[in-house]
Amino acid sequence: MPATVLIGCQWGDEGKGKIVDLLGERTDWVARFSGGPNAGHTVKVDGETFILHLIPSGILRPSVRCVIGNGVVVDLDHLVEEIRTLESRGIRVAGRLHLSGAAHLLLPYHRWIEEAQRQDVRVGTTKRGIGPVYQDKMGRCGIRVEDLLDPDRLRRRLREELERVEGTLRGAGARLPRPRAEIARRWSRRYAEIGRHLAGSIGDTTDRLHRALARGERVLCEGSQGTFLDIDHGTYPFVTAAATTAGGAATGLGLSPRQIGRVVGVAKAYTTRVGNGPFPTQFGGRFGDRFRRHAGEFGATTGRPRRCGWLDLPMLRQAVRLNGIDELVLTKLDVLGGLPEIRVAVAYRIGRRRLTLPPTDPGLWERCRPEYVRLPGWRGDLAGARRPADLPPAVRRYVARIETWTGVPVRLVSVGSGREEIVRMPRSRGSISS
Ligand code: IMP
Repeated sequence: MPATVLIGCQWGDEGKGKIVDLLGERTDWVARFSGGPNAGHTVKVDGETFILHLIPSGILRPSVRCVIGNGVVVDLDHLVEEIRTLESRGIRVAGRLHLSGAAHLLLPYHRWIEEAQRQDVRVGTTKRGIGPVYQDKMGRCGIRVEDLLDPDRLRRRLREELERVEGTLRGAGARLPRPRAEIARRWSRRYAEIGRHLAGSIGDTTDRLHRALARGERVLCEGSQGTFLDIDHGTYPFVTAAATTAGGAATGLGLSPRQIGRVVGVAKAYTTRVGNGPFPTQFGGRFGDRFRRHAGEFGATTGRPRRCGWLDLPMLRQAVRLNGIDELVLTKLDVLGGLPEIRVAVAYRIGRRRLTLPPTDPGLWERCRPEYVRLPGWRGDLAGARRPADLPPAVRRYVARIETWTGVPVRLVSVGSGREEIVRMPRSRGSISS
């Protein structure tokens, strides 16, 4: 059975965690393929809220096995804490979590470098050290999860890297917080201990997934961040440091593109972004502040206020093309209730040019003015809707227009944060809602 990939269509925070949890009902494996603790997936189950940063949201379904793939960067202190928190809340992790030996370790010095070099300020990052750890990976001087299993090698590698990091920090006018030898000694001990603790989970996750697919098991590849934070296809340089688009699922897990059978795109019914960079449909002034408060748009990882704006179709069309999206999931539709009118950007204008897809140059993107279509709003709370017929006609029209504009069917509409607050739209055979 081919794998399904789930991707965010915008700048992250589309509500992927809830959808992964929902699809987890009919999935054997959930595998994360990129990013690290910069992600924040919020899932509400029976009134309880879980925020996951590293472990795939599938962990909340007891029968699902989870993979942290080679494309992910792993902050060990964070991972241990997340496992502890889940287990203390009755979620069994041991035996269900498989961690790729080829994943890179995100160490505290990656955060120190990010701040010393002010990468966080330029890009508006999550300050988790994501840029520097992927720099080390590409610079071929990273330390990987499998190094944890060989304490001598781990000690040697930490000593070597700390020497290099000390030089980098000095170049940026900063210093290590403690003497280098002391840090190396402490970390060698601590991380080797974590390695012993996690040893049963560490292994060749590519092999595990290939075998699972060969047995006919269902694999869901969980994207993190969103299409336009992709290092190549996003609004560079205001992006994360990894591949967030569907192709990243192949390289970040070691699957072949032929093993990916379906791509599901998750989009909010409007648009949000945290961090710097272009955002043509962004709300300004007091409306923007009111909307953010009403929608609860504050970052799950950093608590930062998210910038909010209307749905942007040039972006959505591009996300459909880049990822090969077969089906869309529309989230947070309930938030738009009560507005007298809803706008959707159907194209951009730059001077006399009309663009129906975003430009690759973020400088140009910054200058794009949205061309809006105005649609009637709707009254009433959608949270109780469970069937398409429960949705007001204006909502159904909004959804139908999105399908026409993107050429992709909307299969699920989320109308609240709870697991059950979902409407399955009419479907064709084999769709995700089957
Ligand atoms: P970094 O991934 O921490 O390096 O941040 C790079 C950019 O991606 C910044 O604009 C962040 O705000 C954004 N970003 C990273 N992770 C997420 C996420 O999970 N949701 C939304 N934005 C994110």
